[in-house]
This record gives sequence, C-alpha cells and structure tokens, in this order.
Amino acid sequence: MRESNLQPIKMRYGIVGMSDGLNRALDIAIQVASTDLSVLIQGESGVGKEAIPRIIHDNSVRKHQKYFAINCGSIPEGTIESELFGHVKGAFTGAIGEREGYFGAANKGTLFLDEVGELPLPTQARLLRVLETGEYIRVGSSDVMKTDVRIIAATNVNLQKAISEGKFREDLYYRLATIPISMPPLRERGRDIELLFKKFASDFAEKYHLTPIQLTDDARQLLLQYKWPGNIRQLKNVAEQISIINKDRVITAEALYQFGISNDTTAGTGLILANQTQQGQGRYSYENEREMLFQILSNLGKDVKELKEMMNHKDGLSQPHEVHESHNEVRIEKQPQIIQQPARDPYVQVYGSTQFIESEDIPTAETYTEPVPRSMRELEEQNIKESLKRNHGNRGKTARELGISERTLYRKIKNYGLDN
Ligand SMILES: Nc1ncnc2c1ncn2[C@@H]1O[C@H](COP(=O)(O)OP(=O)(O)OP(=O)(O)O)[C@@H](O)[C@H]1O
Ligand SMILES: [Mg+2]
Repeated sequence: MRESNLQPIKMRYGIVGMSDGLNRALDIAIQVASTDLSVLIQGESGVGKEAIPRIIHDNSVRKHQKYFAINCGSIPEGTIESELFGHVKGAFTGAIGEREGYFGAANKGTLFLDEVGELPLPTQARLLRVLETGEYIRVGSSDVMKTDVRIIAATNVNLQKAISEGKFREDLYYRLATIPISMPPLRERGRDIELLFKKFASDFAEKYHLTPIQLTDDARQLLLQYKWPGNIRQLKNVAEQISIINKDRVITAEALYQFGISNDTTAGTGLILANQTQQGQGRYSYENEREMLFQILSNLGKDVKELKEMMNHKDGLSQPHEVHESHNEVRIEKQPQIIQQPARDPYVQVYGSTQFIESEDIPTAETYTEPVPRSMRELEEQNIKESLKRNHGNRGKTARELGISERTLYRKIKNYGLDN
C-alpha cells in the first residue's frame, strides 16, 4: 500500500513515522482486517503494538461489535480461566454467581490478548481449543459453549525462546500467528526517531505552555545513533523530561547525555540495560526505564534541595527541613494511555464501537511532596507506598499507575514488607 493510502490511518490513530517497517506493519493490519484470521503482533516493549489491534477491529466487519483488550500479564493466575471463559455458580469458593467470561461477552466481536506470552500453560491449552473449534467450557461446568470471536494477540516476549524453554505451546504459537505482524524497534526506523521526537516535544510544549524545544545537529545525530532500548515509550518520556526540565530551549548533545542518551551503550543507559537479556532475545522492562526516570527526578530533587538550602542560608533562615517539606516537589506524569469507557474489570478495557478517546480526557498529573530519599531502593519503596495510599490499597490500580505488572507489585510489596 502506498504511503498516501496509509496517511488517513496514521492521522486517525496518532501514528507518526514513515519507515518501511512501520508502513509494512500497518499495511498488513489493513489487508487482514476484513478476514477473521488470528493475528500475532510481536515487537519489543514500547514499539507501538497497541494501536494495531484497534486498527484491525475498526476496519473489520466486526467494527460495530464489542472490542475487549485484555492484559494477560496482569490477571492473577488463579482467576485467569474464570475471567476468560467464565464460571458457573459454586465452581470455586466465593463463586456466588455465574460469570460469562470474555469469550462469551465478546461473541461476534474482537478479543485482544495483550502480553499473551504470560498466559499459564493450562490456560494456553484452553485457548488453543477455543481457537480451533470455537468451543469452550466455563470453569466448573461440563456444558460446551460456542463463541465467534476474532483473536488478536501481542507479546514483547520472544515466543520462540519461550517455546524452547517449555513456557509456551508451539501449537498455540502457530495458531495465533496465522498472520504475524512484526513491529520494528525504534533504532531501525531511521528518520522516524526525529519525527517522533519533534511530535512529542511539540505535544508537551502545548500541554505545559512552554516554548517548543529545538535540536542542534549534533543532538539530532545522537538521537539517531542511540539504541533506544525502551523504544517509542522511552523516546516519549525523554522528550517530556527534556521539555520540562531543560531550561535552554535549544537541545544539544550534551543536554541529551544528562538524560541518559548516549552513543556509548555501556554508559548512560546502564539502568535500562542492566536487566536486559540480549537484544531481541528477551523482554525490555519498562520498570527499568521508570527507575531511570526516578533517578533523574531524585537527582533533580537533591539539586533543588541544595539550592533551597543555599538560598535559606543566604537569607538567614534557620529551618532547612521546612524547605524540603514544602518545596521539594516531585512531579510525575503517568504514562498517557488510550482508554475508553469505564472498564468492567481493572485489567480489561472494553470498547463499544469505533469511538476513540485519548487520555487527555482523564487526569494524568499528580503532584506530591516528599523528602528526598537516600537510595534507589528507598525511592522505589516510597513510591510504592505513596501509590498504594493514593489508590486506597488497591493493588491493581497501583500496579497500573506504576506501570508494572500486578505480579511484580506483589513481589515488591513482599520484599519491602509492605503487606503488613
Ligand atoms: N508510531 C507512533 N506514533 C506516535 N506514538 C506512538 C507510536 N508508536 C507508539 N507510540 C506511543 O508510544 C507508547 C508505547 O506504545 P505501546 O503502548 O503501543 O507499546 P507496546 O508495543 O504495546 O509496548 P509493551 O510491549 O511494553 O506493552 C504509547 O504512548 C504510544 O501512544
Ligand atoms: Mg502494550
């Protein structure tokens, strides 16, 4: 498909970029939309996989039917089968009523199974059956149910590797990947990097009423050379941080170094690369990217604290602790996300028909005041505590706010002894 034919799709879904890899992915999505074939979208974390299933659904004959986006990684293992396939009354302790499950509720519509690589093996077997026969059995029942659902799945896990490790069923992989779509990593998209940076910088300038930033030639070169392990999500975060924090509106390569952007892969990106396996082999963790952000904010907080203390000494004030209580304010923006009408479940987004609402409609900024933590561990612990408090102890909401899976949150709560 020609670039000009993809332009309306890009505009409708806010997709920026002209690289061959991106165009190929969009092209396949449009071509297969009218069929009922299963689609598997693969690509590193942050490459933009989530727009694809929506494009497919909106361009299919199912577009007026339900669209469910389910994050398989955030549903606890104990309830995942009942969530997907439903249960009958009394199926397990606490099953006081029956539940239809998403395969029933999405009948005639589309089900997007995000992070499909996280599905436990027994659930994979059930999923394979429903994909092959359109039949499933609710938990605790022996009645066979029928459903007509189009499945689109996505993963940032290398499923071939997961298969070789016995974590993912090979037959399910081939069934899901009837049509594979590969989203290229940002480092392979050439000029898209610059286009995306400019787009995000101008979005944030508008959002925060700032003069848009501009790049010097060496900064532009550096953006193109950098490996972008966190892909577009990382680029967006960097553009936001620089837009807000950098006083100078002309961004040089030196300014980018301060934000961890370096063409030396062993420097600057250390926090991101630390927990990564070989490129393309493993999973790129957004948590590490967040840690980098927290470290930058923490350093910034320390600078502000020192500055305030210096000012206080200059002014003859004698209560420095009042300064950081009242002025050491850390502003954290939540990752903008696409949301639709209120979800029935915390980890599921339910979409009615084709309306598409961006996160500008929901409050995204939070401001809170806290003393500067002494280490990354403390910073993380404190951040989890604050988030749990803000969400009244609701772990699902907390995990989403922190951008980590519920399982990771449970582990961290346990490690920090916050469960008491
Ligand atoms: N081509 C693009 N143009 C503009 N914004 C984009 C583009 N691709 C991705 N984004 C933005 O980048 C962010 C990350 O994209 P997305 O959530 O789709 O990543 P993902 O591939 O699903 O990552 P993960 O595997 O970690 O879930 C989102 O804020 C999204 O809006
Ligand atoms: Mg995603």
